[in-house]
Amino acid sequence: MTIDHTLPLPVQPAEGMDPERRTWLLATTALGAVATVGVAIPLVSSFAPSERAKALGASVNMNPADIAPGEVRVVEWRGQPVWVMRRTPEMLADLEGMEGLTDPASKVRQQPPYATNTHRSIKPELLVTVGICTHLGCSPVTVPEGSNNPSVPADWKGGFFCPCHGSTFDLAGRVFKNKPAPTNLVVPPHQYLADGSLLIGEDDSGAA
Ligand code: FES
Repeated sequence: MTIDHTLPLPVQPAEGMDPERRTWLLATTALGAVATVGVAIPLVSSFAPSERAKALGASVNMNPADIAPGEVRVVEWRGQPVWVMRRTPEMLADLEGMEGLTDPASKVRQQPPYATNTHRSIKPELLVTVGICTHLGCSPVTVPEGSNNPSVPADWKGGFFCPCHGSTFDLAGRVFKNKPAPTNLVVPPHQYLADGSLLIGEDDSGAA
């Protein structure tokens, strides 16, 4: 069974937000322009465990085969949104040598060892990360390359933007410097099964 939802963009700008960013956020929310400047991500629950199993923290299995290049989907795991994004070769190339990152080599343990690499993933093209900002727990939105979001620089290569206090992350979930979020996004334990499906919540090491 597949269930589609759409996660809402936070509509209440945080107290103390930069006036320009506040204006931008209110305007884009009012105009429903999320699709071009900050993309809410559909929540997909495939082969979902029972409510009781989810409450117990069960792993979640999904098939990433039909995720289109550049697309992000959300799978709920332990009550958290886990993003699964298929990155294009161009996106992966942009991750190499990305400048202005707080922890470009992912030295802070925010991911399992098998995701401690430039793309922070097992398969380079597939990002699997918890979609919760490491500052105060808001849900960032995707901001594509070429966006008119004033909170990202002109040479923005695409990534994630947290509207609450303005943290920005690249397409590997690495936070940029001088932002409130202290660390990169969390990569949960996960593994690919023999049939190509993705199991989120446990890996070969037994981590869960
Ligand atoms: S929660 Fe503060 S920047 Fe994301």
